[in-house]
Amino acid sequence: MDFKTLVPGAGGAAAVAADALLVVIGGDTVPAALPKALVTACQHALKSGDFALKGGRAAYLGAVAGVKAPRVVLAHAADATPVGFRKAVAAGIALLKVGGAAHLAVTTAGAAEPDAAVAEALVAAVTESAYIYRSTKPSAPPAGRLNAVTLLVPKGQAAAADLGLRQGAGIAAGVDLARECANMPANHCTPGHLAAEAKKLGKAAARMKVEVLERKDCLKLGMGSFMAVAQGSDEPPKFIVLRYSGAAKSQAPVVLVGKGVTFDTGGISLKPGGEMDEMKFDMGGAASVLGAFRALAELQPTINVVGLIPATENMPSGRAVKPGDVVTSMSGQTIEILNTDAEGRLILCDALTYAERFKPAAVVDIATLTGACVVALGRVRSGLFSPDDALANELLAAGEQGGDLAWRMPLDAEYDEGLKSNFADMANIAGRYGGAVTAAMFLKRFAGKFTWAHLDIAGTAWNSGAAKGATGRPVPLLMHFLLARAGAR
Ligand code: BES
Ligand code: MN
Ligand code: ZN
Repeated sequence: MDFKTLVPGAGGAAAVAADALLVVIGGDTVPAALPKALVTACQHALKSGDFALKGGRAAYLGAVAGVKAPRVVLAHAADATPVGFRKAVAAGIALLKVGGAAHLAVTTAGAAEPDAAVAEALVAAVTESAYIYRSTKPSAPPAGRLNAVTLLVPKGQAAAADLGLRQGAGIAAGVDLARECANMPANHCTPGHLAAEAKKLGKAAARMKVEVLERKDCLKLGMGSFMAVAQGSDEPPKFIVLRYSGAAKSQAPVVLVGKGVTFDTGGISLKPGGEMDEMKFDMGGAASVLGAFRALAELQPTINVVGLIPATENMPSGRAVKPGDVVTSMSGQTIEILNTDAEGRLILCDALTYAERFKPAAVVDIATLTGACVVALGRVRSGLFSPDDALANELLAAGEQGGDLAWRMPLDAEYDEGLKSNFADMANIAGRYGGAVTAAMFLKRFAGKFTWAHLDIAGTAWNSGAAKGATGRPVPLLMHFLLARAGAR
């Protein structure tokens, strides 16, 4: 998809050459700033009832006298924010999806001004609707005809909008990769497949290096907790290390750690059968790290980033770890595995210890960690946990900017009490309540040597039901966080 800006000449949006013109309208009156032909067309559509000045409403008008583009679509934005704009664009292009338009021009009146954030929102809306899962579905419909989008901007806004389009496209490439990876079933998206995807990224881009540790390497490093999860699976585990070096060597890197459980059966603490297929998405954290690296490759910001992905299946077998088994993590702390289904924290804790060697500026782990987080926050916001207010606020702001929201959750010391064990330094589960928090408290025990945050994306990494599929979240949040640190936005 090709995105660009255009400063329209005399005649404004009505004189722009394109296959279709999408007019995003805000407010509760027809904006007088629109070209006369569009004002008239809009008034007609309102009168006939085909359109209403209400958020989410859109109308396909076809040809409009006095407008050069042969198709006109109206869409109303509920508010003057990038989010309102994004929803309006999504509603508008839904009406164009099966048609013949290859080149779409987008103009806005009375809605958000076309600045960098709006330009990025446009890219996000268009690419999100254009995504079609293909990897294991030969019968998937061919790509739609739409291949170019032009955002009409006033002269003073062109530079900001261009930056937003460029960054939006980089982020969208990352979101697409994360979605495709996470959507792939577990017999295709194995730990080995994640490693191969990472290697592919490393080869295709500048300033990128990828290394993959095998089972024997992890055992030698003492990753007894990660290896305990992996021992029940015939699929070889991988510990993937990605490095993006965009800044001076002396600059401490940000480390992203992604949970890469390519299928979570629960292990011996077997999950019930209903919706178990969705546990193929349990590598959503890993997918978001790969997506972030895809976006870094595209955008080349001035920052150093390390990505760590412990990747394994969680399976029951004759070799599988059993409830009550005690293992020694890479940190030296021992863990009583009371529930083999609390495996995410077991693979992440060793990755956090491994992160110490990079002397990180900050470590952010991303994991589909707990069903309790879905209960707490639903599918709207990711759970954000951090003892560091500054890092937490950075990540919350990045989520707002990327339209990829998070909500801060507590880490009071009292939540740690349930992790006590009679047979090890800690248990891997606590009591019935506050499961998202106690999981974070477990991780916190391995994050004492750096500034750390944890994102529980169990509710936000994928959708269930008819629209079942990966969302690519939280790639936009992560990229806004990294771009802000790089001074690029
Ligand atoms: N991958 C799951 C968490 C999950 C469950 C994500 C449902 C999305 C939807 C994780 O490994 C898990 O099984 N967690 C357990 C922890 C419990 C045993 C303490 C859970 O949430 O039930
Ligand atoms: Mn589990
Ligand atoms: Zn899991």
